[in-house]
Amino acid sequence: MAKQYPLKIIAFTCYNCAYAAADLAGSMRLSYHPAVSIVGIPCTGAVEPAVILNAFEQGIDGVFVAGCLDGECHYKTGNLHARERVRQLRGDLERIGLEPERLEMFQLSAAMGSRFAELVNEFVERIYTLGPSPVRPGLDCGGRKK
Ligand code: FES
Repeated sequence: MAKQYPLKIIAFTCYNCAYAAADLAGSMRLSYHPAVSIVGIPCTGAVEPAVILNAFEQGIDGVFVAGCLDGECHYKTGNLHARERVRQLRGDLERIGLEPERLEMFQLSAAMGSRFAELVNEFVERIYTLGPSPVRPGLDCGGRKK
């Protein structure tokens, strides 16, 4: 495992799938990193780009959006819009000097509790490898302590 430091990750999870998968992972007593704050939402299509960018602006180290599988979004195409939004935002992050890998989109069903735990742990490992967000308060632009 890469060098560890206090992590801050936000997960926007759809109540109809990924949020339920997170719940299932808990019921199955599967562990995933506690630094991930799970925010339940009615559909990933409702996550505004400004909300994600604001999280990065506040120094959050990583964000993922987790929605329904293709064809299973309760609002038909919310997950597809979210996936495209995440793709575009990754480009925006790169343009402002943040690694696009700090933002990800996952698609799950409510029954995928163990997959949820796996994805979270893989994402956490990725963020550890990238290092703390250079935007984090108290760090200079190279990610070093001021
Ligand atoms: Fe789950 Fe739209 S209802 S992503």
